[in-house]
Amino acid sequence: MANHVLDIDDLTLDEFNKVISYGISPNPQKVMADKSAALLFEKPSARTRHSTETAIVALGGHPVTVKGDEVGIGKRESVHDLALTLACYHSVIGARVFDHKVLKEMTRAIDEAGANCSVLNLLSNKAHPCQGLADIMTIIQESNEMNLDIGKVKVAYVGDSNNVVSSLALSCAMAGVKLVVASPPGFQPEDELIKRVERLGGTIEIVVDPFEAVEGADFIYTDTWTSMGQEAEASVRKEVFRNYQVNDLLVKRAKSDVKIMHCLPAHRGEEITDSVIDSKSSIVFKQAYNRKLSAIGLLTHLVKAQGGQIWP
Ligand code: CP
Ligand code: NVA
Repeated sequence: MANHVLDIDDLTLDEFNKVISYGISPNPQKVMADKSAALLFEKPSARTRHSTETAIVALGGHPVTVKGDEVGIGKRESVHDLALTLACYHSVIGARVFDHKVLKEMTRAIDEAGANCSVLNLLSNKAHPCQGLADIMTIIQESNEMNLDIGKVKVAYVGDSNNVVSSLALSCAMAGVKLVVASPPGFQPEDELIKRVERLGGTIEIVVDPFEAVEGADFIYTDTWTSMGQEAEASVRKEVFRNYQVNDLLVKRAKSDVKIMHCLPAHRGEEITDSVIDSKSSIVFKQAYNRKLSAIGLLTHLVKAQGGQIWP
């Protein structure tokens, strides 16, 4: 059966560590030579599209990207038929979807048919594993540079408990990093995520007050208040998250050498100010750079595990 990665906890701890080592290897193995990947985008993307396409090329493969209406997942044809058709040509289907259930439906169709194709989540409403992996790679790298003991590092996430913090929480649990999340009531991590984090031996501390969360933090992370697909709620969300902006006042309460993280795209003046995102403490482009390395790691893991036969 093909391996799939819909979220970080689809990897065992051993696989997670291997994925990181594949990603940071100076010489990626050409595991995708003579292979290709279909990349489907129901939503816009800069980092994910470019990092994944260039990662596939670095692995010797060929990406085929399909956007917007052209994808027609579940509209032009069923998810089942589309997944099995793409599996005729590609070793990997990477997909950015509105509804996480679509990814599950794809993996079910592929597994039931015994097709030799892996599904990689390129962001859904629930998870963003490529981002979560790049983020933990960045946290580990920065902690090493600052001589911090990774087991003592504190990451404070401030804002909406969305897809990005879900995958970040699972990555932190895998790496043994402490995560504190500050979100308003009603926008805090779901119980199901907390259980998954605990199954990995981690914890998430959840607080309402962003100032409490960043106290003693080595890293402060934030993301948009309104994720793609939630645009109708934008004005309500602006009000709800008004006190959750990562600005100079908040940053002052963390450690003096705190690093600032954001998955991007940033909504400057909303969840983060120009002065913070443009400051020397900001490592947002290191995160963006590591997106290619995380894609190399995840694709290597997925393709290496596949058999050689063509489907059907
Ligand atoms: N961080 C991220 O996934 O960016 P894009 O939406 O531009 O791909
Ligand atoms: N939470 C954001 C992340 C974008 C990369 C969204 O889903 O829109």
